[in-house]
Amino acid sequence: MSITILGIESSCDDTSAAVLRDGKVLSNCTANQEAHRLYGGVVPEVASRAHQINIIPVVDLAIRQAGIKKEEVDAVAFTRGPGLIGSLIVGVSFAKAYALSLGIPLIEANHMQAHVLAHFAEDPKPPFPFLCLTVSGGHTQIVLARDYLDMEVIGQTLDDAAGEAFDKTGKLLGLDYPAGPIIDRLAQQGQPVFDFPEPQIPGLNFSFSGLKTSILYFLQRHKKEDPDFIRKNMADICASVQARIVRILLNKLSRAAGETGIREVAIAGGVSANSELRAALEKTGRENGWNTYIPKFEYCTDNAAMIAVTGYYKYLKGEFTGQEVAPVARWKV
Ligand code: KG4
Ligand code: ZN
Repeated sequence: MSITILGIESSCDDTSAAVLRDGKVLSNCTANQEAHRLYGGVVPEVASRAHQINIIPVVDLAIRQAGIKKEEVDAVAFTRGPGLIGSLIVGVSFAKAYALSLGIPLIEANHMQAHVLAHFAEDPKPPFPFLCLTVSGGHTQIVLARDYLDMEVIGQTLDDAAGEAFDKTGKLLGLDYPAGPIIDRLAQQGQPVFDFPEPQIPGLNFSFSGLKTSILYFLQRHKKEDPDFIRKNMADICASVQARIVRILLNKLSRAAGETGIREVAIAGGVSANSELRAALEKTGRENGWNTYIPKFEYCTDNAAMIAVTGYYKYLKGEFTGQEVAPVARWKV
């Protein structure tokens, strides 16, 4: 019997819908919200309203691109959390109504678990157990994945997420939001000539707030001597900050691989789109004898395909959700 899942994602500022048939992605459509650029970050109220406008056209497009009729959908998987509550409410309410109208089951997905399961949207798929560094605008975690639905967070940030470190640095440099992709591009024209300290955090946890402060003081100091310092050194500053963030992430990932003895190592989440992080993972992997896994770009940033994949594995296990389900802003993997 063939299983068709509609996935819906609305945890932050991207409205996304995807169709998955027997584990294969038939469509994955996302509407981005440009409005937040004006404010230098995601404004929850604006995000929620934009989801309301986008959700029906995005789901329609996903169904059409998949070449199916909505009556062929066997279950609706949706992001229950973690995320912005006003954004989640839109996706959750829509998923409930859709499932109710078609008389099909609902499946709740944890957004962070789904980022890890994005690796199963396409080949090559990592074998279990594997380690996954999930790095996004809201989270930085090292996850030990024992099975599709059996995961443990073995390290995480104590303050800012890696994506936040990129975005807040961008704000200090006068760049648009989200600054991660812009810093990535500018860094390619620069050299990491400025040294920022590595935070001394024990174990497998991370901290990025100290880095943010040291960048702020560094810029203030140099701007006092030369008000044009940022403009003249933009590419080198970006390369230096990016190199430090990537080093922090890779050092902890190496430590996790050493402590667990696991040689299957993956990255996921929006920051895994970063070109230096991708290259550094492959280099470190070659040096340490790891098999490394990096999702295709469209499965790195927020997308509904990863929600549909999570829905598929839950469907196989019969893990369904009732109509009384409510979104949750915080939810551990
Ligand atoms: O996973 P995601 O799409 O949304 C969240 O769940 O947060 O991640 C968004 C984050 C933003 O902080 C953005 O700046 C960062 O991913 N990002 C990048 C790159 N592309 C997106 N950071 C560094 N380099 C990139 N190429
Ligand atoms: Zn995400």
